[in-house]
Amino acid sequence: MTHLFEFESAVAGYGPLTVLNGVSFHIAPGERVCLLGRNGVGKSTTLKTIMGLTVWRSGKVIWNGSDVTRLNTVARARMGIGYVPQTRDVFPSLTVEENLIAGLQRKPKLGIERAYKLFPRLHERRHHGGAELSGGEQQMVSVARTLLGDPKLLLLDEPLEGLAPIICQELMEAFETLSREEGVAILLVEQKVQEALAFSNRALIMDHGTIVHVGQAQALLEDSQLLDRYVSVAEVPVAQAG
Ligand SMILES: Nc1ncnc2c1ncn2[C@@H]1O[C@H](COP(=O)(O)OP(=O)(O)O)[C@@H](O)[C@H]1O
Ligand SMILES: [Mg+2]
Repeated sequence: MTHLFEFESAVAGYGPLTVLNGVSFHIAPGERVCLLGRNGVGKSTTLKTIMGLTVWRSGKVIWNGSDVTRLNTVARARMGIGYVPQTRDVFPSLTVEENLIAGLQRKPKLGIERAYKLFPRLHERRHHGGAELSGGEQQMVSVARTLLGDPKLLLLDEPLEGLAPIICQELMEAFETLSREEGVAILLVEQKVQEALAFSNRALIMDHGTIVHVGQAQALLEDSQLLDRYVSVAEVPVAQAG
């Protein structure tokens, strides 16, 4: 079977620093995969490296069976990889709608209406300034803007960070809809482990710049030993969260 995306022994970092020490994994079309691990193990670096935003040393990047290792960030975005970084880059002086269309080179294929359908809250607030938005709304703008590039693989870096439970739920439902109705594959980095595992088909665990575990998300949800060892800090189960 041809995977949508594959890293073969990716070695990459920043300047002289190597952070990823031979990272290999694949993502199937439409699959939901979460990438877990403690702070500083290389999760964000993995997403940045998928986008071609780090210093590449060796390994291969395969997209739909083709070697795309040499493609730059713009080319990777064009072929269908969408990246929502941890920083929510919303322009405070632009409205929601201006934020969405800012920097677009061509008319979005599926249109802005699709983004509004996914996030009705943004439609309601489309003429509001970026500075007036809550953290959750900023995250929605950030995700919606990425969707205008019509990605087949969406990379999400801690989208729930610092957001209230009700907003987290809204965001996760939107990701769920994207996955179910449009078959967008999602690679989710998230510290809210229970939410991430409940959403995902498969889970990857990272430690010291390598993948130390690959398995079904459901199985990991029940493996407290593995979670304690590599992931975190005891988490309040979703059902009990405030
Ligand atoms: N821009 C950068 N320049 C240099 N080192 C960085 C940069 N970003 C991250 N690092 C380092 O890379 C390592 C992995 O960081 P990161 O991928 O952000 O971890 P995680 O997302 O898992 O918390 C850390 O040691 C961090 O200090
Ligand atoms: Mg990070």
